[in-house]
Amino acid sequence: MRFSPFVERIAGHGVAAWDIHHAAFEAQRESQDVIILSIGDPDFATPEFITDAAISALRGGDTHYADIPGRPRLRQAIAARCAAKFGRDVEARNVIAVAGAQNALFMASLCLLQAGDEVVVLDPMYVTYEATLRASGATVVRAACDADSGFRLNAQNLTGAITGRTRAIFLSNPNNPTGVVLDREELQIIADLAIAHDLWVVVDEVYESLCYEPEHVSLASLPGMEQRCVAVGSLSKSHAMTGWRIGWLVADPELIGHAENLALSMLYGLPGFVMEGALAAVLAHDEVTRGMRDIYRGRRDLVAERLSDCPGIAVLKPDAGMFVLVDVRGTGLSSLDFAWRLFRETGVSVLDAAAFGEPAQGFVRLSFTLSDEQLAEACERIVWFVRKLVERQCR
Ligand SMILES: Cc1ncc(COP(=O)(O)O)c(C=O)c1O
Repeated sequence: MRFSPFVERIAGHGVAAWDIHHAAFEAQRESQDVIILSIGDPDFATPEFITDAAISALRGGDTHYADIPGRPRLRQAIAARCAAKFGRDVEARNVIAVAGAQNALFMASLCLLQAGDEVVVLDPMYVTYEATLRASGATVVRAACDADSGFRLNAQNLTGAITGRTRAIFLSNPNNPTGVVLDREELQIIADLAIAHDLWVVVDEVYESLCYEPEHVSLASLPGMEQRCVAVGSLSKSHAMTGWRIGWLVADPELIGHAENLALSMLYGLPGFVMEGALAAVLAHDEVTRGMRDIYRGRRDLVAERLSDCPGIAVLKPDAGMFVLVDVRGTGLSSLDFAWRLFRETGVSVLDAAAFGEPAQGFVRLSFTLSDEQLAEACERIVWFVRKLVERQCR
């Protein structure tokens, strides 16, 4: 039977990047001794008061169709938090609650892009972006952020990537996999280009509450962004709620209306009890995220410290998020070979960061979503593996 070309467009290179993770997951299911550092799923339980809110909604019979763009109180709570962050008015009509940031990105892609358009992304980018953006029929153009600069914005590359066909810039800030947080000056460059070329800017801020040193500035807070910036967020990372599938898109009400039509035709809205849990979570945002951020910061420092004196590798300490990039070029292996051999010889699974984009070739991505003990053990195995490789090289 024949499928539409759409199915090809959503089967990107990024999908294969997860092979190692699936292999590790399978090995773990068979009780093998593996340490999975290949995914960013928080190891914390969702805070109990959030789960309680959902359970109580379920028990109260909240099991029917719910408002397609999200319950008014939830949209209002998200809007209030965004208003404080953006430093301007944000109303419930600027917000649609959707099934996670991934769903929001997909909606933005379908509502803003079409075949023949170009969409510029900062490279490296989160693996699902390629398929998400290509689903619209648009061509993805990558503006490299090079390893030599610590993967920071390269204004020249970004400017050079924009053509008469460009319709939008998509980026995640903080970035996954690099952990870079763009500063106000870098964001201003993006905003200026968007205004000059009349582009949409879609900024994925799922890691905004996991910024360690620098303060996170939302692109949506910059002058002139009110009409053209689409901010994407979710509770997956900030509140350890990946499995709840709840996030949002904040934009001009006209776009929210189009997204609502898409939600109607694809999802028919979110489960009411999930929205009740989400409401409790959004209202307690700072209390929940402060504690988690401190723990992640400690883990980041632990991994950076344990891997720092190992010859052959270098750690890029992230400003935000739950991942560390490790430069493995000194081991003589490609990052893909490194990841597979490390997994086969030590049971530690990491991702080849090149799957996120060519600039990250030679780097692997480790998540720090495990306990200090497990991370220390993983680092020990990595150091053992790398030392063995480097010694062999020296012989
Ligand atoms: C940058 C980025 N955006 C979006 C997502 C997906 O988030 P959600 O679970 O809210 O769909 C992830 C998940 O890892 C991510 O890293």
